Amino acid sequence: MKQDMIVVLDLGSKENAYLAREIRALGVYSEIHPHDITEDDLKALPNVKGIILNGGENRVVNGAEIDASPAVYNSGIPLLAVDHKGTEKWPADAGEKSKKLASFVFDTCKAEKNWSMDNFISDQIELVRRQVGDGRVLLALSGGVDSSVVAALLIKAIGERLNCVHVNHGLLRQGEPEQVIKVFKEELGANLIYVDAVDRFLDKLAGVSDPEKKRKIIGAEFIDVFKDEASKLSGISYLGQGTIYPDIIESGTKTAGNIKSHHNVGGLPEQLGFELVEPLKMLFKDEVRACGRALGLPASMVDRQPFPGPGLGVRCVGAITRDRLEAVRQSDAILREEFDKAGLAGKVWQYFTIVPDIKSTGIKNNSRSFEWPVVIRAVNTVDAMTATVEELDWNVLKKITARITGEVPGVNRVLYDLTPKPTGTIEWE
Ligand code: XMP
Repeated sequence: MKQDMIVVLDLGSKENAYLAREIRALGVYSEIHPHDITEDDLKALPNVKGIILNGGENRVVNGAEIDASPAVYNSGIPLLAVDHKGTEKWPADAGEKSKKLASFVFDTCKAEKNWSMDNFISDQIELVRRQVGDGRVLLALSGGVDSSVVAALLIKAIGERLNCVHVNHGLLRQGEPEQVIKVFKEELGANLIYVDAVDRFLDKLAGVSDPEKKRKIIGAEFIDVFKDEASKLSGISYLGQGTIYPDIIESGTKTAGNIKSHHNVGGLPEQLGFELVEPLKMLFKDEVRACGRALGLPASMVDRQPFPGPGLGVRCVGAITRDRLEAVRQSDAILREEFDKAGLAGKVWQYFTIVPDIKSTGIKNNSRSFEWPVVIRAVNTVDAMTATVEELDWNVLKKITARITGEVPGVNRVLYDLTPKPTGTIEWE
């Protein structure tokens, strides 16, 4: 293994993610693990040079104060216990805090500055090979950044023993299934199966308006589709996933509540019988892109905007109907086309349209119309944890508005969402 590691143990601090990033910024790889990590799990982590017990505001869980397991205290690995129990405290001054951190990492732990994407990839390839042995891995390849990068990494690690499955759940963007097949099957030579499951998903989602229920249905249906596909293939025992660190944080850790469940993380039933392979789960979004670049993926794939697993389903707000879903898909295609023309593609982090389940009065072809509005969302962020709104050029907005109201059936109005994250999330559901 090529990289040293500092483990941040989650004892309820909201700063854990920032601390891990600060350690990575020092040139040393860092991962966050739950406070009750077992002896076996701790031993399985490669090259752990130090552990930071990072206590914080969420240290009391279910009325009881949590502490690290004896395995941590008995590990013999250098520890820095920073918590309101008070062995140590972070200095209030940011510069002093960085000094204390660097002194622990380099003087106490003697960690080496060897965190780089190339080393990360080579370590992950080794860890995947160790985990999988000569087994086969099934991967849901949506074509988004995360699943594309994980596919490229797994192709490097295990080659044809990776079976990619591209499920068309009817919630994909215009032209997307065709593009996934072209890039992965034709260009990268992946073992790829295409599954048309449009009716299956849309029938299950009919009449369901609660966002969490929609996500759960989509997640559960995915699992069923995979089970079906896996049963047609022999010897599959692993499931590859493009889970990244923000997915894990937002789905709730042992010390923090759930913001929303990401289908990458929640809902995998025990009976599936697959062991997960998640080589990107400790990376932030910007690091996933860097990983893709280091793996040699083309910029058009690595720099493309992220797309949620539940797809257009979370942008067809409320109960999904086929006609309103089509309005989301067509308006999204127009938006992307106009962003391309205006030179904004690749500059704005994420941009898409939303069609809420409301109608308003308007005028079309000289008569009264009563139709949906399309909402445009265009945001910038580094790690998807916070986001600001792109200050779009008025003329670009006017052109997009004219095209959407002129070309998309059932739409008579266009709105621009001015809300940063927080208070809004990036998606509307
Ligand atoms: P939010 O809406 O949480 O979005 O501010 C942050 C980023 O995550 C994407 N997102 C999802 N990705 N499954 C995913 O794989 C999901 O359920 C999901 N919900 C949001 C969102 O598009 C944005 O990039």
